[in-house]
Amino acid sequence: MTGRRGALIILEGVDRAGKTTQSTKLVQALQDRGHPAEMMKFPDRTTKIGQMISSYLVKATNLEDHTVHLLFSANRWELVPLMKEKLEKGISLVVDRYAFSGVAFTSAKPGFTLEWCKSPDVGLPKPDLVLFLQLSPAEAAQRETFGNERYERADFQKTVLQRFNQLMTDPTLNWQVIDAARTIEELHKDILRHSEVAIEQAATQPLKELWK
Ligand SMILES: Nc1ncnc2c1ncn2[C@@H]1O[C@H](COP(=O)(O)OP(=O)(O)OP(=O)(O)O)[C@@H](O)[C@H]1O
Ligand SMILES: [Mg+2]
Repeated sequence: MTGRRGALIILEGVDRAGKTTQSTKLVQALQDRGHPAEMMKFPDRTTKIGQMISSYLVKATNLEDHTVHLLFSANRWELVPLMKEKLEKGISLVVDRYAFSGVAFTSAKPGFTLEWCKSPDVGLPKPDLVLFLQLSPAEAAQRETFGNERYERADFQKTVLQRFNQLMTDPTLNWQVIDAARTIEELHKDILRHSEVAIEQAATQPLKELWK
């Protein structure tokens, strides 16, 4: 496998769309098929910055809205050296949320433009594939009830979905919309198929920069 880089595969979607369920299954399936793969998730709550974010999300602390946006971005940037190292070694990364969630959530707050929200993430490793797990608010409501974290409110999630739809009009990214209202196995099959194509294509392509 020398010389082949790994693919950067992102799973995005509104709350409860099945991102964590599918990321876990995808990594396992890729490994079983002989593709080196590892899972990552953002926010990564284990770092110092991640702990500040976590404390904000569980509402233990309050942070100013611009500040928290920049912390989410910084949490991605602090992992970039590790991500690049793994991708260069030929390991594909399956990432549960990335800059798109960061932008969709902050830009759903009053007074924030999409452009301002994107700027701190410009230049992050560019995904080879962004899987958007599409689930309507009505369908999401039928899944396990929302937890008690910040942002876990139906009205806010509706605006978040609108922002994701705006981000998906960007033709420079390989977005694939997955109908997440189907069974876990049906989604998995689709996701695996798209991922194997992306892994083949990425292997011989240089890693690019997001939104640049
Ligand atoms: N295809 C599916 N059909 C029905 N239920 C599902 C499906 N996929 C996941 N679920 C269930 O829905 C809930 C949310 O799934 P999961 O945690 O994977 O979503 P998520 O997108 O990671 O959510 P969050 O944004 O809150 O982290 C879980 O209880 C999970 O078992
Ligand atoms: Mg999850």
